[in-house]
Amino acid sequence: MKTKPLVGIVMGSTSDWEVMQQAAKQLTEFGVAFDAKALSAHRTPVELEAWVGKLERGGAKCFIAGAGGAAHLAGVIAAKTTLPVLGVPMPSKHLQGLDSLLSIVQMPEGIPVATFAIGDAGAANAALFAVAMLALSDAKLAAKLQAFRKKQADAVRSARLPL
Ligand code: RP5
Repeated sequence: MKTKPLVGIVMGSTSDWEVMQQAAKQLTEFGVAFDAKALSAHRTPVELEAWVGKLERGGAKCFIAGAGGAAHLAGVIAAKTTLPVLGVPMPSKHLQGLDSLLSIVQMPEGIPVATFAIGDAGAANAALFAVAMLALSDAKLAAKLQAFRKKQADAVRSARLPL
């Protein structure tokens, strides 16, 4: 039987996958089940709402939403669910993602979206943040996250500058 997704990863276009695959990679490394889809707040609003509802009923704990330009995807999902929504701004063609960042981060009071960095780092960090939330009630996952942090610290400690 397929494991039910704990995280929903959604992006406004298949063109966002190059960035959003960083989120999928991190969740895969931590063994967190997820569903990933390209669904748009303005091109496929009906399907988006249905998918959010399906995941929520299936036991998902949060959503990671990546979008670019006038990026309202994360805000629209946050309007449909009280689960945490983590927004990832795409590095857009004309404004290098500043438009995406401001669209996602400037949610009016009452409907929050947690906003991450533009691009790859934001996508990876959104997944790590989702892992941290899930780890609050999963000791094995918490131990994996500690080990992940230790590995990074060890890499810094053992690094030598090419002097
Ligand atoms: C947004 O428009 C998407 O999230 C994407 O970042 C951007 C461009 O989409 P495409 O024109 O490449 O499909 O909705």
